[in-house]
Amino acid sequence: MKTRRNFIKLSALGSVGLVANSALANNNDLNDESFKNQKKIAKPIVISTWDHGMAANEAAWKILANKGLALDAVEAGVRVTESDPNNSSVGLGGLPDRDGFVTLDACIMDQHNNCGAVAFLQDIENPISVARKVMEDTNHVMMVGEGAQQFALKKGFKKVNLLTNESKKNWEKWKENSKYQPQINSENHDTIGMLALDEKGNLSGACTTSGMAYKLHGRVGDSPIIGAGLFVDNEVGAACATGVGEAVIRISGSAIVVELMRNGMSPEDACKEAVKRVIKKHKNIENLQVGFIALNKYGETGGYSVYSGFNYASHTHDHNKMIDAKFYREE
Ligand code: GLY
Repeated sequence: MKTRRNFIKLSALGSVGLVANSALANNNDLNDESFKNQKKIAKPIVISTWDHGMAANEAAWKILANKGLALDAVEAGVRVTESDPNNSSVGLGGLPDRDGFVTLDACIMDQHNNCGAVAFLQDIENPISVARKVMEDTNHVMMVGEGAQQFALKKGFKKVNLLTNESKKNWEKWKENSKYQPQINSENHDTIGMLALDEKGNLSGACTTSGMAYKLHGRVGDSPIIGAGLFVDNEVGAACATGVGEAVIRISGSAIVVELMRNGMSPEDACKEAVKRVIKKHKNIENLQVGFIALNKYGETGGYSVYSGFNYASHTHDHNKMIDAKFYREE
């Protein structure tokens, strides 16, 4: 019978490295036949969205391979992407809004359900680290705009011009026609979402973006919203989202993926179900790319997207590679 007590028993057992193959799916008692079929938990592990996840995972892996915390790993990992001026969808070099302002959104969550977020933050290169400060140094979860920037400056972050010449050039070109049209897999990436399971079996996640290119000034997407862009429950697993943030918010995407895993689904099936929900709740899915990735307590991963083209990077002791997510429709 599926009980919370059995699940916790299995989680505790997970920390010594062995679980039943079907434990999450069936939650069988430890004396059951199925428990004879044991396997090792794949930990530590880090996964992150899109190809820029490979470089980000490298930084996270250095921490995880040295038995560091998942929380430290995800922060260090996504900072790499935030600080890459050649990445036009996250941090420095991010494409601006319609009015030429680069505005950043980010959130972070640890194994105790502690979380911090910043939104509509300008001129700060590493919003994920500001989000962590919100989590650790305040009683709040989310800070936005001017207030978030003042907080960051007080915490020692420096003002940086995030609009690179390249992004400015692209914006000026865009202004010639000024169409507001979200693009599927714009330049084959948008947000970076990262999930990690550390040596101790604890989960954390981080999510950061400059948001939809040429958005309305003031628009905030799913990425800084706990439960939408990112959710972590250390008893079960973690999930994060990429793509059109409005669609992810409408279904509380990442929280849903985690709840589906809690109810026994594999990470991939949970992501697929959330994608199906996005599709069901939108009359027109043209150009509506959304993707989820998920990681459960046993180090199992999965991803799924509305359209083809979405992939994620995965790093364990055994591999360091990109994985193509399954999808609902060919792009
Ligand atoms: N998923 C990023 C955004 O919509 O802002």
